[in-house]
Formats: sequence, structure tokens, C-alpha cells
Amino acid sequence: MSEMDQRKNAVAQSPTNRDSFGSKLGVIAAAAGSAIGLGNIWKFPYMTGENGGAAFVLVYLVCIAIIGLPVMLSEFIIGRRGQKNAIGSFKKLAPGTPWFLTGWMGVVAAFMILSFYAVVAGWCMEYVFKSVTGGFAGLSPEEIGNVFGTFTSGVVRPIFWLTVFMALTGCIVYAGIKEGIEKYSKILMPLLLVIIIVLGIRAVTLPGAGAGLEFLFKPDFSKLSAKGVLLALGHAFFSLSLGMGTMITYGSYINKRENLGATTLQVTIADTAIALLAGIAIFPAVFAFNIDPASSVGLAFITLPNVFNQMPGGMFFGFLFFLLLSVAALTSAISILEVVVAYFSEELKMTRHKATWIATTVITIIGVFCSLSLGPMSEVLFFGRNFFGVMEWTSSNLLLPLGGLFITLFIGWYWGPKRTKEELSNEGTLAVPYLSLFMFVCKYIAPLAIFIVFLHGMGWLSWLPFLK
Ligand code: PHE
Repeated sequence: MSEMDQRKNAVAQSPTNRDSFGSKLGVIAAAAGSAIGLGNIWKFPYMTGENGGAAFVLVYLVCIAIIGLPVMLSEFIIGRRGQKNAIGSFKKLAPGTPWFLTGWMGVVAAFMILSFYAVVAGWCMEYVFKSVTGGFAGLSPEEIGNVFGTFTSGVVRPIFWLTVFMALTGCIVYAGIKEGIEKYSKILMPLLLVIIIVLGIRAVTLPGAGAGLEFLFKPDFSKLSAKGVLLALGHAFFSLSLGMGTMITYGSYINKRENLGATTLQVTIADTAIALLAGIAIFPAVFAFNIDPASSVGLAFITLPNVFNQMPGGMFFGFLFFLLLSVAALTSAISILEVVVAYFSEELKMTRHKATWIATTVITIIGVFCSLSLGPMSEVLFFGRNFFGVMEWTSSNLLLPLGGLFITLFIGWYWGPKRTKEELSNEGTLAVPYLSLFMFVCKYIAPLAIFIVFLHGMGWLSWLPFLK
């Protein structure tokens, strides 16, 4: 190819001269990096533990298929077509309409989610440090519980780790899409995969591991409640990073020749596989040592250090596990920060560097309040919740579902099949056999299902006898 052709090609790929992902693998690594996070390795296992195991897993898989796939694909379409941040893309595709408010909600959700997410990510880093320095050695289960309580309700250490985590996130985003997000995702995601496989092998080769696998894979539907089903749906959103414009923003960096349908499928499969692998790395070990799997938020931070204490080579595997959590959290955090940075730089016309510093600093400050609300400020309640709880509850139950609802309605009712086909077929060069099914799901199924999750999340369905 002559130099002239190469230049022409480059212009065709990025008409606006924006930074973008450089390769197919880079797109997958970055988008899977966003999806795979604390949601998969920390939240999914404890939700499974609390909601009866395999039956919950099965329902979760169905939710991923009927809600996760269409919402992610819709976000990619909006982003790649709009070639802008979450708000700018809506403004470009639907000028003069209020649809851009969907993107606006996403930016607000990004501030809220990252502020508490980074607090938990900071805990993971503290635990990496503790595992290396033998901080759990010889402690009884009760003492390990106390370590967690004292640490998270403290002031200096959790805020220190929160700041370190946000600084790392900020540095990667600061470096840009290709040189920052893509480059680091391509290093960190393979590392994550290797660690989780090593941990899985360790867990399933423990004597008595079978009971854990059975818990994860042999469904007992009598243990599943209607509430569990709705939780699974809500979690599908969080786990796939949907509803807040993350995939709109990342979609805007995907080149016009990539197959969006295939990318969506690959990212979704990767996210689901890692959630299941996390279950395989955790439950066999928990059962092998006769520990109750339903230990809620403390599963990773109290139950597991306890398990590692009893396991041969446990100190090393404990270190690996918390490193895994930290890495997973980092690639998700960069995608959340990017939503804000892309908005600040494109809509508010800041330089990328200034946008990154401002966003990182503001989110860290909100994060400090999240962290303090678990300790010295735990008495300050809003509607019965501490500040951490408010950030988590509002984003997961209100903003993400509403965002997802409007995103599917936008594609189903506003954007329509003709323009959707143009984008999915790369202007007619790819076949889109799933188009009518996708449009049908976006018009009716997904909005209805998401609306029900939203009503449940708001607590407005609690009068139903089977949801008590
Ligand atoms: N998907 C991430 C996780 O599973 C969290 C996340 C939510 C990231 C929303 C971006 C947007 O941990």
C-alpha cells in the first residue's frame, strides 16, 4: 500500500481525528476489561452464595442473553455511529431531542459508581499488601473478621489506598485510548486470566472440592426466589458495564470495519466465563473447609482469607486472589473514568489532560466520603443509608436500569431497523441475520424486563406476596 493510500485509510477510519482502539484484540481487551471487574469476582460469587447457587447462576445466564447482549449492542451502535462521548453521541444522533439526558444520567452514574468502586478496589490493594507481609498468618476466623471491620472503618489506610488506586486509574486514562487504555488492558487481561485459572486449579484439587462444584452447577430451584431473579437481572447490568454509557464511549473508539455483533458476543462470553471461573476458584475451596458460602459482602474479605489460612500454599494463593481483584477493578475503573473524561474534553472543551485531573480529583474526594461513611461518618444517614450506600443504591437501582431502558428504547423506537442495519452491517458489507430478533428485543422484551427490575429496585414491588 502506498503512503498516500495508507493516509487515506487512516482518515477513513477516524473521520474526526479522534484517538481510537488500534486492533480487534485491543477492542476486546478493553471492553472485556471494563465488564470484568469486582462485579464478577467479588459480587457474583456472594450473590450466588446468598441466592441458592446453581439455580441463580442459570437465571443469571438467561438474563445476560436476553438483556445483556441487546443493551451492549445498542450502546456500541450509538457510540460508533455518534463518534462521541455518551452525551455527545445522543446529541449527534438525535439533535434537538431530550435523548441526550440518557447520556447525562450515565455521566452522573459514572461519578457515583467510581467513588464507591474505588474504595472497594483500595481494600483489595490493602489485602494484596497484607497477604505479602503475612498479615493474616495465625489469625482465627473471628480475628480476620475484626481485621476487616477495623480496617474499613478506619481513616488513613482506606483513604491512602483509595488515592493510590485512583492515581493509577488516572495515569492510564491520561495516556489516552491507544497508548493508555488499550495498552494496559492488553497486558492486564491476560494476567487476570492466568491468575484465575491457577486459582481455579488450586481450588478444584482440594480434597472435598466436589461439594462446591455441585453448589455452583447443580440447580435446586426450590432455593431460588423471585427476588433472586430480579437481583440476577440487575447484576447482569452492572457486570456488563451497561446503562451508563461506558460501552457508548468505548464504542466511539471502535473502528468502522469491526463487526459489532461479534464483538458484543465475545465480550459477553468473556465476562460470563470469568464470573463462572471466579465461582470455580471460590466455592470448592469454601466447601472444602466447611465454611458457609452465604457470607455476603464479607465473602472475599473475611471468608476467603480464612480459607487461604487453612490451605496448603495459602499465603501465595491469597496474594494471587487479591491481585486478581485489584487488576480486575483497575480495568473497570479506567472505563468508568473515561466516560467522564470523554465528556469533559469533548463537550466542555477541556484538554484531555485537564479533564483527567479534574475528574480523578473530584471522584477521589467523593470516594473519601464513601470511605468515611463506613467509619467516623457512619451516623450520617440519608433515607436510612450511609453515603456509600446512597452512591451504590442510586447508581445500581436507579441510574443504570433507567439508562439501559432508554438506550434500548432509543434503538427500538427512535433509531429503527434501517439505520441499525446500516451500522451493524458496516454499511452493507456484513450479513445481519439477527436484525429482526434484535429489534424486537429492543422494542419490547428488554424495556419491559428492565422496567420490572427498576420497579423492584425502587422497592415498589414489595407488596407482591412472592417478593416479600
Ligand atoms: N462491570 C464492572 C464490574 O463488573 C463494573 C462497572 C459498572 C464498570 C458500570 C463500568 C460501568 O465490576
